Amino acid sequence: MSRVRLAVIGLGRMGRIHAANLAQRRRSAELVVVADTYPGRAASVGAEHDVPWTTDIDHVLADDSVQAVVIATPTGTHPGLAVQAAQAGKHVFCEKPIALDRQTTVETISAVDQTGVSFQVGFHRRFDPDWVAVVDRIRAGELGRPYLFRTSLRDRKPPPVEFLQGSGGFFVDVTIHDLDTARWMIGEIVEVTAYGTAVADPAIGEIGDIDTALVVLRFENDALGVIDNSRAAGYGYECSTEVMGEHATARIDRPQHLHYQWLTPGQAAHSVNADFEQRYPVAYAEELTAFAQCIRNGTTPKVTGLDALAAFDLATAADASWRTGQTISLSPGHCQEGVVYQLEVPRL
Ligand SMILES: NC(=O)c1ccc[n+]([C@@H]2O[C@H](COP(=O)([O-])OP(=O)(O)OC[C@H]3O[C@@H](n4cnc5c(N)ncnc54)[C@H](O)[C@@H]3O)[C@@H](O)[C@H]2O)c1
Repeated sequence: MSRVRLAVIGLGRMGRIHAANLAQRRRSAELVVVADTYPGRAASVGAEHDVPWTTDIDHVLADDSVQAVVIATPTGTHPGLAVQAAQAGKHVFCEKPIALDRQTTVETISAVDQTGVSFQVGFHRRFDPDWVAVVDRIRAGELGRPYLFRTSLRDRKPPPVEFLQGSGGFFVDVTIHDLDTARWMIGEIVEVTAYGTAVADPAIGEIGDIDTALVVLRFENDALGVIDNSRAAGYGYECSTEVMGEHATARIDRPQHLHYQWLTPGQAAHSVNADFEQRYPVAYAEELTAFAQCIRNGTTPKVTGLDALAAFDLATAADASWRTGQTISLSPGHCQEGVVYQLEVPRL
């Protein structure tokens, strides 16, 4: 079968990674054009991968040879681009989160679904071989009843303040990855309590955001969870997870970028990952391969719009908890298509 032909729209931190992965002609996908409103960036990524580039999104969407788009623009632009692309008949891979508020998220999912195209959201951890192997063993019953979930997601240094201002806030931008992982590994969540502070960078506090957070979870199956997040860990990028259960404990932690140690008297040093690109080369490539395979096979993507909505609702609950100092209760409603959360406090 021929490869699915994709365009990447938005060529900043994340879009460059997607473009590079697709340019290597994956098993089922290939890059045909790149687009960014900033011409210099579009031109340099186009030249790097020897593909056409444009600043005109309409041009990409009018191109019949483009079957699917990867949207990696700032979050506030996702809904317009996703709906426009879907209505032009393009399958849509959209970076997380889908939108900056719930109503727009729901409307975007509905408008894209109505067109019948495939829609996948960028929760890459679900495609990382370490997490996939652990989840497979949990599903096979090897861990037994889960007791405790613990996960850390820490960036070495914060992104620019201009990015943060359009990010939707810390919980919606960062913690959302851990909340998706928590649902995927352990199950649905009925209580969220969050603490946040801006200690690393005063500029982040000045825009009303935070850079450090702790989130405590109670799951529907009575397990407990704790998430710690930082935008400014200093030493490097860390993404680690542990699940303690009845029969086993699973730990996922691949701190090293290069896998050697340098030993000197009384000391052992090893490298640490600098950022998400170093930690997740396989996961970012695999999520696009899987997306293309869903398009070819007509199967449902592993991360659906409803999964993204659930993670968004949980992030909103964490945000509400941090702002009000209260524990937020949630009711996960199970339906045929997935799970839809109801928050038991007024949305902020
Ligand atoms: N899955 C992950 O691990 C991960 C990591 C980082 C960022 N993200 C997500 O990816 C998205 C982009 O984040 P980033 O850090 O790459 O941002 P960025 O600011 O580095 O890059 C965004 C790019 O989009 C371009 N752009 C802006 N508006 C556009 C438009 N309308 N059409 C075309 N191009 C446009 C900008 O010129 C810029 O080059 C965000 O939604 C973010 O949450 C996901």
